[in-house]
Amino acid sequence: MKTIVKPNKIDIGHTPAGQFEETRYEKIHNVIFDDSKEASIQVAAEMAALIRKKQDQGKKCVLGLATGSSPIRVYEELVRMHKEEGLSFKNVVTFNLDEYLPMERSNIQSYYYFMHEHLFDHVDIPAAQVHIPDGTVSQEETVDYCLSYEKKIKEHGGLDFQLLGIGRTGHIGFNEPGSHINSGTRVITLDHITRVDAAPAFLGIDNVPRKAITMGIATVSKAKRIVLLGWGQNKAEIIKKTIEGEISPQVPATYLQEHKNCTFVLDTAAGSELTRNKTPWLVESCEWTEELTAKAIVWLCSITGKTILSLTDKDYNDNGMADLLVLEDSYDLNIKMFNRLQHTITGWPGGKPNADDTHRPERAQPKKKRVIIFSPHPDDDVISMGGTFDRLVEQGHEVHVAYQTSGNIAVSDMDARKHAEIAMELQPSETAQKIINDLSSKQESHVDSPRVRKLKGSIRRSESYAATRYMGLNDSNVHFLDLPFYETGTIKKKNLSEDDIMIMMDIILQIKPHQIYAAGDLADPHGTHKVCLDAVLEALERLGKEDFMKECWLWLYRGAWHEWEINEIEMAVPMSPSQVLKKRHAIFCHQSQKDGVMFQGDDAREFWMRAEERNRDTANKYKALGMASYSAMEAFVRHKFDH
Ligand code: F6R
Repeated sequence: MKTIVKPNKIDIGHTPAGQFEETRYEKIHNVIFDDSKEASIQVAAEMAALIRKKQDQGKKCVLGLATGSSPIRVYEELVRMHKEEGLSFKNVVTFNLDEYLPMERSNIQSYYYFMHEHLFDHVDIPAAQVHIPDGTVSQEETVDYCLSYEKKIKEHGGLDFQLLGIGRTGHIGFNEPGSHINSGTRVITLDHITRVDAAPAFLGIDNVPRKAITMGIATVSKAKRIVLLGWGQNKAEIIKKTIEGEISPQVPATYLQEHKNCTFVLDTAAGSELTRNKTPWLVESCEWTEELTAKAIVWLCSITGKTILSLTDKDYNDNGMADLLVLEDSYDLNIKMFNRLQHTITGWPGGKPNADDTHRPERAQPKKKRVIIFSPHPDDDVISMGGTFDRLVEQGHEVHVAYQTSGNIAVSDMDARKHAEIAMELQPSETAQKIINDLSSKQESHVDSPRVRKLKGSIRRSESYAATRYMGLNDSNVHFLDLPFYETGTIKKKNLSEDDIMIMMDIILQIKPHQIYAAGDLADPHGTHKVCLDAVLEALERLGKEDFMKECWLWLYRGAWHEWEINEIEMAVPMSPSQVLKKRHAIFCHQSQKDGVMFQGDDAREFWMRAEERNRDTANKYKALGMASYSAMEAFVRHKFDH
C-alpha cells in the first residue's frame, strides 16, 4: 500500500522533483497553509531564492507569471523584498500567461495594467525583459504573434519557474476545458464560468471580453518548476478534481499531474474538499477529536441515508470508522452526537432568561443583552440572519446594526439616475443636475465621480433604514461605518488601515456588547466579507483587555454564498413560516440589489431566494439526521478568543 505523503507545512521548496509519492487519492504534491498570506510569503521566498541563485551564476531567471486575485500577495511580498532586502530583478525575464482580447494596455482591467500596478512599477526589472501577450494584435496577426511569443520563451531557455492560479473551470492560464495537452500559445474563447467570475472586475458580464491570448498547456508544462496557488472555498471543488481526478481535457489543470516538479500551495479552505481533509478516516487512522467524530457521523448519515440514532456498528465498520468503536459502541456514539446537535437548536439566540443554560448555545444572563450585528454590506444582516435579528429584537435585547461598508459600487447607474431625477423634480439643485450629467456621459464600467458614489451610498442607506425599521429598530441603533478601505470606487479595495480599525473599535467601545454577530464568509467572490471580518477580529483583539470583553461573545454567520457544515454549527435558530416571510420582506427593502445585481457571482438566484433555500436546506439536513422538522434555520459558529 502506498504511504500518505504529509507535505512539510512550512517549506514548500524542497519536496517535489520526483520525490513526491502519489497516494491512493492525490496525484499532485500539495502544501496546505492556515492562511493565504503566510503561504504567499513562502512562495515569494522560493521565487526570490531562485532569482538570487541565478544571479550568483550570472544567469537570467525566466519567470512565467499569472494575474488574478491569487498571486497578489506573492507580488506584494516580492516588492517588499526588493524595497527592504535589496532583491534585484535586473536578471529577471518574465512571460505572462495571458491577456484579454481585445484589450488596450491602458485599460484598468488589462493584465498589462495589473502586472505593472502590482509588480513591475515597483521593482528594477528592465522594461525590455517584460513580456505580456498583446491584447491589441489584429485577428490576422494573432497566429504569427502567438508563435513569436512561444519562440521568445524558447530563446530564453524556457521558463525556470511558472506561477499559476486556477479557474473554477479548471483552467490554467486561459486554457479552458477542451484544451489539448500539446497546445501552445494561442487565441482562446473564454468559458462562460470564467466570464462570470471576471464580471465583477468589469462591472458586469457584458463588458467581459469573449476571447484571450494564452500560453498553452505545453508551454506551461515545459517550465522547470510550477507552483499553483489556490485560495478560498470557491476553489475547493476544482482543486479536488485536479489533484484527485483522472487526467482529462475537461479539467485542463489535471495535466499538471504529469509534471515532475509541481506543487499546489493552498489555504485550508481551498484544500477542504481533498479526501484527506474531508474524510480523513478513509485515508489513514485518525485521532478522533470530538469535532472529527461529529464530522464523520454527519458524513456517515449522509452516505447511508440514516438518522444518527439508526447508525449501527456495521455502518461504522464498513465506512472506515471502525477505530471509533474501540472505546464506545455505536449506541453511545449516536446518543452523544444526537445530544450535541440537539443542543445547538435554540429559539433564544440571546439566551433564554431564567432557564438552565448548561446545554444551551447562549448564556441566560444578562437577560437583556447589548448586541451588535456587523453587516459587511448594507443587506447582509437581513440576508444572513434576518430571522435571528427578528428574534433578538422581539426578545427585548438592545440590538444595534453596524454596516461596515457603504456598498456604493453595487448600485447601478440606472438606479442612481432615477433617484437623482426624483431629487430634481422635488427641488431642482445644482448637485442633482451634475449627478445626472455625470451619469448620462458615463459608461457603466467606468469609475463613478465622488458625488455619484455619495448618491449610491445614500440609496443603500435609505434601503437599510427601511429594512431595520421594518425589523422594529430605532434609527439611532443603526450605524453606517463607511469603512475607508472600501471607498475606491472600483472592485479593487485598499488594505485595511488604522482608520478602519479605529472606527471599528469606536463603535464596539461605545456599545460594549455582550454579543457580536459578524460575517464569517470567506467565500465572498470579491473578498469584502473577509476584510470586514479581519477588521472585526483586529478591533476585538486590541480591545481584549477591556472589562466588557470578558462577557463578549462573537457569533459568525456565513454570508450569502455558503452555509456552515452541520457538524460545525454551534447555534441553529429555527424560523417559523411567518418569520421566513418577514425575512423575505426585509430583504426586499434592499431594492437596488434586486433583479440582476452586479456582484452576483455565478448564482443567478436573487438574494432572498438563496437565503430561503439555504435556510430550508439547513432545516432539512437537521431533519435528515433525526432532529425535529423546522421550515428553516439560520446557523452560527462561535469564535473563541485567546484572551
Ligand atoms: C491569470 C490566469 C488565470 C487565473 C485564474 C484564477 O493570468 O491565467 O488562469 O490564474 O483564473 O484567477 P483568480 O486568481 O483571480 O482566482
